[in-house]
Amino acid sequence: MSIEFGPDFVFGVATASYQIEGAVTEGGRGPSIWDTFSHTPGAILNGDTGDVACDHFHRVEEDLDIMAAMGVDSYRFSVAWPRIQPTGAGAPNQAGLDFYSRLADGLLARGITPFATLYHWDLPQALQDKGGWPAREVAYRFADYAAIVAHALGDRVPRWATLNEPWCAAMLGYASGEHAPGIRSPQAAVRAAHHLNLAHGLGVQAVRSEAAASVGVVLNVHQLYPASDSDADLQAWQTADATGNWLYADPILTGRYDEATVAALNPIVAWDSFVEDGDGELIGQDIDFVGLNYYSPSTVRAAASPRSGASPWVGADRVEWLPARPPVTEMGWTIEPQGLTDLLVRFHERYPGIDLMVSENGAAMPDRVDSDGRIHDQDRIDYLQGHLGAVQAARSRGVPVTGYYLWSLMDNFEWAQGYSKRFGLIHVDYATQARSWKDSATWYRQFLATRTLP
Ligand code: FCB
Repeated sequence: MSIEFGPDFVFGVATASYQIEGAVTEGGRGPSIWDTFSHTPGAILNGDTGDVACDHFHRVEEDLDIMAAMGVDSYRFSVAWPRIQPTGAGAPNQAGLDFYSRLADGLLARGITPFATLYHWDLPQALQDKGGWPAREVAYRFADYAAIVAHALGDRVPRWATLNEPWCAAMLGYASGEHAPGIRSPQAAVRAAHHLNLAHGLGVQAVRSEAAASVGVVLNVHQLYPASDSDADLQAWQTADATGNWLYADPILTGRYDEATVAALNPIVAWDSFVEDGDGELIGQDIDFVGLNYYSPSTVRAAASPRSGASPWVGADRVEWLPARPPVTEMGWTIEPQGLTDLLVRFHERYPGIDLMVSENGAAMPDRVDSDGRIHDQDRIDYLQGHLGAVQAARSRGVPVTGYYLWSLMDNFEWAQGYSKRFGLIHVDYATQARSWKDSATWYRQFLATRTLP
């Protein structure tokens, strides 16, 4: 039996600005929190930074040609806010807009549909200096920035996401401190989460005011399973969902926070000290799609004692994550395609009206260069095949999934893991910046030619 994706299904690849662009002081770009953080001793594995990354800023034409040769329908990239507004406010930096304008034109010239994400974590440092996401003001600055970019590119970019993975931005950035800006305050993280939600809503309004486009958001809804059906484990599972998932998806899709979410977080920071009347309405704008990023599922159970120390699982102190079940990727993440089907089905059941896409999916693998000089990454191909099958399984159960974006076009700066983890279809030799096709890249090209899984 073979599985066919129809002609309307969108297949793409995804990247993010700080992970690939480099050229951090060129074209008038201001510093972002990731520049500061990556230059902080001990913050990133091996002291890596995004200063050069894949040098995509200078090699954009070559990277466009690779995508064209691969035959993707669409490219999901992110816009670096500090290229557009070097200090996070005020008049746009034309050189920054020009870069993305050339990117959009280059995509369209090759028949590839641009999909822009406005915030993939590179907050202008100047805004962090004013408090960062825990400060409400930043949401309004984001709306200004979104309007500027949509005004400049709205005639050529038909699909926009406001934010990428607000859970990561809030919880890894402000609670566990694993990501920029490296703060460890549960109170700050909860406030950041709300202000990211608010930024999303205001950003949707801003994009719509400038462009007739499809607008949505990209969430990393964690696919969680309870370890057992005991009351305690089910309760732990619901708390993890409420604080790790529905804290974002509920207000965005329904205009209100769930009672369980508020009950879990209110003891950490009083809800009415930062949530204002009318915020639900602002956040819950009508949107056209939700992008879900999926890599791996996890299993949770009730913890014997509350967790101590910095953790991104704010409000879920009595929830314990079971160790990842093998097989795992280089990230140590369980490989489980069924989790993607379950995630899509369960998200659709909770929010039936909205179109979904898989906005990221992929795997870091060991990627050894073989004696023939090539990378035979059959493990990655197996991962991708399994997950595409999982997407189709969800579709056959009636879930409206309209696209799939593979993470990532090429190896890149994997945040706190630096360059040690390779997610690309295309191998990047960081010493020479040479790009080469892994077997998975050739496999994706062949798959896209037929859009049929064996
Ligand atoms: C996601 C991020 C993306 C990439 C992948 C591996 O959480 O959105 O930038 O790092 O993980």
